[in-house]
Amino acid sequence: MPYPELRSRVAIVTGAAGGIGSAVVRRLAAEGMRVLAVDRAADAVARVARETDPSGENVHAFAADTTNETEVAAYVAEALARFGTIDAFFNNAGIVGTMTPLVDLSEEEFRRVIDVNLVGSFLGLKHVLPVLYAKGRGAVVNTSSIAGLESTLGTAAYDSSKHGVAGLTKVAALESSARGVRVNSIHPGPVDTGMMTEIRRQRNPADPDADGRRMAAAIPLGRPAEADEISNLVTFLLSDEAGYITGATYRIDGGMGAAARLAVIPRS
Ligand SMILES: NC(=O)c1ccc[n+]([C@@H]2O[C@H](COP(=O)([O-])OP(=O)(O)OC[C@H]3O[C@@H](n4cnc5c(N)ncnc54)[C@H](O)[C@@H]3O)[C@@H](O)[C@H]2O)c1
Repeated sequence: MPYPELRSRVAIVTGAAGGIGSAVVRRLAAEGMRVLAVDRAADAVARVARETDPSGENVHAFAADTTNETEVAAYVAEALARFGTIDAFFNNAGIVGTMTPLVDLSEEEFRRVIDVNLVGSFLGLKHVLPVLYAKGRGAVVNTSSIAGLESTLGTAAYDSSKHGVAGLTKVAALESSARGVRVNSIHPGPVDTGMMTEIRRQRNPADPDADGRRMAAAIPLGRPAEADEISNLVTFLLSDEAGYITGATYRIDGGMGAAARLAVIPRS
């Protein structure tokens, strides 16, 4: 494995039952890290931990809702109690929410998406950073999206939340830079996970595969990312090889950022 310094270090991964989170759990475990895998889907995250490390020694599942500060404090306490320290944090849990024009979006749904994607990310930083500050070393990766850099139609809550994560990352990076702690955000384009299945279903309930083909055609590399490809970037950013990188916004989007796009605006 390419990052020997990661061996025996401790990581927390949220959204660990999902496509990207579980890929990162597997990759960090393969690097020899000890991992607390956090997700509100208790059975699913327990399965990820069991399948990654049948011994249960190095990968442990913890059920928590990242929007609940008590439960966030509990996952940090669990990592410290079980592994004695925290070195790395993949702050990744998220939802897409209902995709609909802004004027049709309920306040409740807007708040729900902001709560998970932005408030949950904030709470994770609030409780993990002091542990990293105390040891004077650590690395954090927050999951934003290309939707945290630009926007599309029908995703007001998601795009606002992911732009928020980009801002949160920069503040956290500045506040952490004198304390030996790096904080970066990743901005994936479409990734082949359960979330992408849901997006296709919302955009074209009659034919989600047709939406998938349309989306792939808009990606210069011609396909969505595999979750393992996202884990390559996350692992690099958590490693010492990224020691001079903080406050950065990392696109991983198959070339979408290089393409001038003309949003097709529906006019009635
Ligand atoms: N799939 C994509 O195309 C894509 C693109 C850009 C960014 N992202 C982001 O990547 C991250 C991971 O998404 P994914 O594609 O793996 O989706 P996913 O749906 O497979 O995984 C998301 C996981 O987060 C968990 N989760 C949701 N809300 C939670 C909460 N309040 N507390 C604890 N756990 C919670 C879910 O249970 C799920 O296991 C998300 O932040 C998402 O916005 C995904």
